[in-house]
Amino acid sequence: MEIINNESQAKEVLRDFSEIALVPTMGNLHSGHVSLVDKAKEVGKIIIASIYVNPLQFGINEDFDSYPRTLNDDLSKLEQAGCDFVFCPSENILENIQKYKAPDISKKLCGKTRPTHFDGVVTIVRKLFEVLNPDYAVFGLKDYQQFLIIKKFFKEHNFQIKILGSPIIREDDGLAMSSRNNLLTSQDRKIAPQIFEQLTFIKNNIKNKTHDELIINSIEAFKKNNIFPEYLSILNPETLEDASENDASVLIAIAVKLGNVRLIDNILIN
Ligand code: PAF
Repeated sequence: MEIINNESQAKEVLRDFSEIALVPTMGNLHSGHVSLVDKAKEVGKIIIASIYVNPLQFGINEDFDSYPRTLNDDLSKLEQAGCDFVFCPSENILENIQKYKAPDISKKLCGKTRPTHFDGVVTIVRKLFEVLNPDYAVFGLKDYQQFLIIKKFFKEHNFQIKILGSPIIREDDGLAMSSRNNLLTSQDRKIAPQIFEQLTFIKNNIKNKTHDELIINSIEAFKKNNIFPEYLSILNPETLEDASENDASVLIAIAVKLGNVRLIDNILIN
């Protein structure tokens, strides 16, 4: 596995390769990321992961400084997973970077409390695409809104790169894997599986109760444990507008803050 540190090295090293699949990450890798590499291997011949904690996607009072950084460990996981290259740019990557606005669905859900987040995401992902020129790029579906925004943005900007989503990987107790799980206190880690429990309850009862009833029930259940979701919604998976009662395909999406740690999760019913 070869490490690439800058744009000119990337152009030089990758010049002769085709069928490149990219897995963009911010490091602190877990089995969820390894599953993205596995998905990349299904479609591409050359697998590149990128590791970059992108300051542009963090708000002023967010966790950029405390975001876990574990480069050596990440590199050995990527090597074991079968990556061919890892792109680890320095801060230079932001020099003269052209900034982009994410499509309007970025204003919903996470965008309500993180108004500039998705602009930062599309800006850095576009930069990664320009530098690494992949044929495929794989993103985790835990960040469902991010996936939708990226798909829409690159379609609107006429990129030919095929954007693939990879399923959520969970801990044994149901908690969706996330680099931020490491930041939970032991008490919050104990209650965190309730997020998936409530999503599952909603999924299992979606035909028996109205969406409003389901959401009110879950909010009540969370309240008993002092959990106050930032949002809990049943949505159309394409528009992120509230779903209607008889929609066959819906997204149940949630964001919760436990202490200072913001967790998101979702279940997609097709
Ligand atoms: O999902 C992430 O880890 C990040 O948002 C991404 C796509 C790597 C961009 O920084």
